[in-house]
Amino acid sequence: MSKNGAMMDYWFGQKNNWRRWAWNQASSLLTDKHAGVSLYLPSATDLDRKIALSKGFVDHNLIGVERNRSALQESRANGGLVIHGDFWDAVHCVARSSVAVSFVFGDFCSGLPHEDEYICAMNAASLPGTEKAIFCFNFMRGRDPSGNNVRNVFSKYAGKHRGQLFLYGLLSVFLLGMHRNLINCGATNEALGEFAGRWFKVLMPLYPAFDGSLLKARFNSYQSTTGQIFDSCCFANPFGVIESATGISLSQCRSANLINQRREFRLPAKTLNSTRAVLAHRTMRLNWKTADKEQSRNSRA
Ligand SMILES: C[S@@+](CC[C@H](N)C(=O)[O-])C[C@H]1O[C@@H](n2cnc3c(N)ncnc32)[C@H](O)[C@@H]1O
Repeated sequence: MSKNGAMMDYWFGQKNNWRRWAWNQASSLLTDKHAGVSLYLPSATDLDRKIALSKGFVDHNLIGVERNRSALQESRANGGLVIHGDFWDAVHCVARSSVAVSFVFGDFCSGLPHEDEYICAMNAASLPGTEKAIFCFNFMRGRDPSGNNVRNVFSKYAGKHRGQLFLYGLLSVFLLGMHRNLINCGATNEALGEFAGRWFKVLMPLYPAFDGSLLKARFNSYQSTTGQIFDSCCFANPFGVIESATGISLSQCRSANLINQRREFRLPAKTLNSTRAVLAHRTMRLNWKTADKEQSRNSRA
């Protein structure tokens, strides 16, 4: 097999344990795991699917995303529903459809990303379709100059842990975005001060000890067979806790235009089309399942 990330062999003890950990987190943090789809990166072998099914996720709600064509074809040949395109584009496309998203699982295995990626993640989290979603990400430690800025600011809290660094970077984009939107909306200084004060007072001190708090964040790390360290984080959508942290409801924020739901750039037509096709396929599987259930109920009667 080629050493390309899309075609690598991800079947080894530490990774297998970690994969189970990730799906366990989703399973325990989601209030209703059947309410929406899980979007994940299956690569060619789709080792996630079997684990997800064993944790009670249903087949038609498991939707992979893959940008590498060979891995995409292999994963589809194994029976998976897989969108062809970039992960964040696909999350946006699904979140804007009528289908809710339960789990956003980016097992990237690459280094800490550039700040742009945090903005994509926060934009995706701000869409109504992902409001109740759980997020989980996995990054490789080292060889990631793209993450220098975030590392410089947050390493005093998070050390080298890429999962923790990513979450802190993301929260900062979130807090600053909310603050900036208030300014753009012409909020009074008083309102601005109160809002920012509440957020910063509640959230900032929690940065170093986020476990078990508002976002129910959990962290993990494992080592590959070559000794490379991977760090991950799993947490609830920050937009989902606005009300409990500030007393301002999400719908109030949306109607006051405090949440920027417009993406700065257009979603690629190819990803939109691929998403539509995969969602149509999902509906077909769902209908077959419902018809099967009805048939077995009738034959028992
Ligand atoms: C580390 S592998 C996933 C392994 C799998 N989750 C497992 O546990 O076996 C990451 C896969 O995602 C693909 N990928 C990485 N970044 C992506 C992105 N931004 N959009 C779409 N696919 C991506 C890679 O081509 C690769 O196949």
